[in-house]
Amino acid sequence: MPLKLAIMISGRGSNMEALIRYAQRDDVPAEVVLVLADRKAKGIETASNLGIKIAIHDDEDGIRAALESAQAEVIFLAGYMRILSRQFCDDYHGRLFNIHPSLLPRHKGLDTHARAIAAKDSIHGCSVHLVSKDMDGGPVLNQLLLKIHPQDTPETLAERVLALEHKLYPSLLGDLAKKDGNLPLHIELAGLN
Ligand code: GRF
Repeated sequence: MPLKLAIMISGRGSNMEALIRYAQRDDVPAEVVLVLADRKAKGIETASNLGIKIAIHDDEDGIRAALESAQAEVIFLAGYMRILSRQFCDDYHGRLFNIHPSLLPRHKGLDTHARAIAAKDSIHGCSVHLVSKDMDGGPVLNQLLLKIHPQDTPETLAERVLALEHKLYPSLLGDLAKKDGNLPLHIELAGLN
């Protein structure tokens, strides 16, 4: 049985698209059963064009009902801008993931690329992590790194990190989908390598 995945977005949805295209490969036992947005996000149209079921809800009751009816087993936040309640994070703990454009725990929150440059960081990158009640604070599962060049700007870094994100998030999905057993075990195996 393919792993049933829901993706939650608020914006353009490029990570969402990378996940959908990855799940549509014949060798990946995963199925995107729902794309859920909290607003009329640009990514909704992309998802729809790719044949994925979509829903828009800005309240957690609506979100829970949509996830349940789609029978989602795991949920990937991909540029989802709304803070989820502690109860929601607890209820979905171990099945709720996020991608963040920095090497967590460095640079939680917004404007990560500008902050990495301002801090004179020499390396930067992106992280996938379990979602907990603390924003961008759940356990980190995997990261991809790059070097910051002297000529880098927030824009060039954003572009280079995004290209890494499009590899990192599908790779987490592959790790989760391709193994049998319970999800916490998958997460350990996906771990910090
Ligand atoms: C990505 O940089 C992601 O890491 C962050 O928000 C951005 C979303 O971009 N959480 P997109 O909507 O996936 O293109």
